[in-house]
Amino acid sequence: TRPLAVAVAGLGTVGAGVLALLRENAPLIAARAGRPIAVTAVSARDRAKDRGVPLAGLRWYEDPVALAADPGVDVVVELIGGSEGPARALVEAALRAGKPVVTANKALLAVHGAAIAGLAEARGVPIAFEAAVAGGIPAIKLLREGLAANRIRHVAGILNGTCNYILTTMREHRREFAEALAEAQRLGYAEADPSFDIDGVDAAHKLAILAALAFGRPVDLAAVHVEGIREISALDIALAEELGYRIKLLGIARREEGGISTRVHPCMVPAAAPIARVDGVFNAVVAEGDFVGRIVIEGRGAGARPTASAVVADLIDLARGRHTPVWGAANGALDTTPAVPMERH
Ligand code: HSE
Repeated sequence: TRPLAVAVAGLGTVGAGVLALLRENAPLIAARAGRPIAVTAVSARDRAKDRGVPLAGLRWYEDPVALAADPGVDVVVELIGGSEGPARALVEAALRAGKPVVTANKALLAVHGAAIAGLAEARGVPIAFEAAVAGGIPAIKLLREGLAANRIRHVAGILNGTCNYILTTMREHRREFAEALAEAQRLGYAEADPSFDIDGVDAAHKLAILAALAFGRPVDLAAVHVEGIREISALDIALAEELGYRIKLLGIARREEGGISTRVHPCMVPAAAPIARVDGVFNAVVAEGDFVGRIVIEGRGAGARPTASAVVADLIDLARGRHTPVWGAANGALDTTPAVPMERH
C-alpha cells in the first residue's frame, strides 16, 4: 500500500522527535497504521542546523504554508507553535486544501479553537491534537473516547512540565527559581517564551482545551483564572513541606452550581495524595465521570520523545481512517452550562 505522506512544519525539539520516532519504530508503526507513514516534506527556519535526524531527500520549504499546497503531502503536522502567524496560517491553509492536520499547538487551539473546529467540520477534514495537552499522556483520548459515556464532574491536573520540573527541583535540591528554570530550558521543556510556562498561560491553554472536551462547550480561554509560580520561593516550598504539603501548579475545571469554573494556580497538596508524588517533567490528569468514577493518568508532559509519541499516535489514527469530531460528538453540544469567570486575587 501507498505510504501516508506527511509534511512536518517546525523542526524544534518535538519535530526532530517525530522524525526520529517514525524512523526508529517504522515497522511497528506501519503494522498498526495499516501502511507505512513517511515524512516527505519539512519546513523550518535554519536549513544548516544539525537536528540529529537525517533530512536528506525531503522536500524543504522556507514558507510552512507552502506545505499545504504540495500535492505529494497527505497530512500536515504543525509543530511551529504560537496562536498566530505561520502556525495558524498553515493549519487554516491545510484544512482549506482538504488535508488533515495534526498539531501540538495548544495556544492556537485555546485561542482559535472554535473557528478552527468550524473550518475543519465545514470542510469535513479531521484535525487531531493529542500532543497539545500533557505531552505523551493520552488526555484527549481519555476524555473524548474513554469517558464518552460519562457526564464529567471535573477534570484537573498538573499540565505544565516546566513548572512541575521547577517546583520539584526547588524542593529536592533546595534550588532557587531562576536556576531551576534555566535547567528546564536546557532540557527543552520550556516554551519559546518561558513566561508562558511560569505564569500559568500554557497550563491555561491546556485546561481550556480539556474543559471544552469534558463539558462539550466552546473553548473559553478568557474564563480561566490564571496565576503562575513566579512568586514561589524555595522557602515557601520548605515551609509547605514542614506542614506536610507539596506545592503544585494545578489546572482545575469543575462543574459548580451555576456553571463551569476553570482555574490555574499553585496549590498546597497533601504530601500523601497521589498527585503530590508526580514529580519532575511528569504531568498528571485526573478526571471524574459519573459512571466510571475517578481516573488518574500520569506520564511525561513535555520533551521530544513523549510529545512525538502523541503526534505519531494521531498519525496512526489518521492512516487508519479513525477520527472523531473536533470537540467530540459524545460530549459535544450536550452541555449548555455557562462558564463562571473567576475574580483575580
Ligand atoms: N512547555 C510545555 C511544558 C511543553 O513545560 O509542559 C509541553 O506542552
